[in-house]
Amino acid sequence: MSEEETYGSCSYWNTRYQQESTPFDWYQSFIGLKSYFESLIKLQDDILMVGCGNSLLSEQMYEAGYKSIVSMDISPVVIEQQNLRYRDKYPDLQFLVENALDMSFQDNTFDIVLDKGTFDTIMCGDNSQENALIMCQEINRVLKPGGKYIIISYGAPKDRESHFSNACEWKRIDIQTIKKPDSKKSTSVHYIYIMTKLD
Ligand SMILES: C[S@@+](CC[C@H](N)C(=O)[O-])C[C@H]1O[C@@H](n2cnc3c(N)ncnc32)[C@H](O)[C@@H]1O
Repeated sequence: MSEEETYGSCSYWNTRYQQESTPFDWYQSFIGLKSYFESLIKLQDDILMVGCGNSLLSEQMYEAGYKSIVSMDISPVVIEQQNLRYRDKYPDLQFLVENALDMSFQDNTFDIVLDKGTFDTIMCGDNSQENALIMCQEINRVLKPGGKYIIISYGAPKDRESHFSNACEWKRIDIQTIKKPDSKKSTSVHYIYIMTKLD
């Protein structure tokens, strides 16, 4: 894979979404996550879906009663596809082109930032150490005081936690696990990291 085509680059994702526009959920779908979200997210929370891709998560959360969801991605290709997919069905769902490393949202805007696979993508891209810090700081900035950054990741705590805590001071960092849907082994899990912003 050339430098321009790594997971962290916009061109890689544009090409991928041009070739395959069928909705796809990385790691976990809403069915598996629902009970975790019920204890972490209130229906009235303002939610940012960071690196939404063409996942069904925004649609399925909206149908479950989460009515304030802004979804964004660095790829204009997938955002155009998502806008076409939802503009008639769910016009309240917003899909925006944004870079998680430099977002246009004001400080203290969201109660929840949801990230399924996007921090992992940054960790697999160029300048991963630096960009991981920038991304955490940028998400901390747009969270309201006491808001939560929730990451669903394949990365184990030894490879993730230091990035979260080096980036900024969180009120707390909690870690849960969720069984991989396609695995028979109960030890085969994804991690849910929950970073709470200081009040
Ligand atoms: C592994 S996919 C996950 C997609 C979706 N969240 C899911 O769970 O199926 C990572 C997504 O992050 C997006 N992405 C990569 N770098 C980004 C950045 N700097 N800002 C916003 N989105 C980014 C990609 O375009 C891609 O859609």
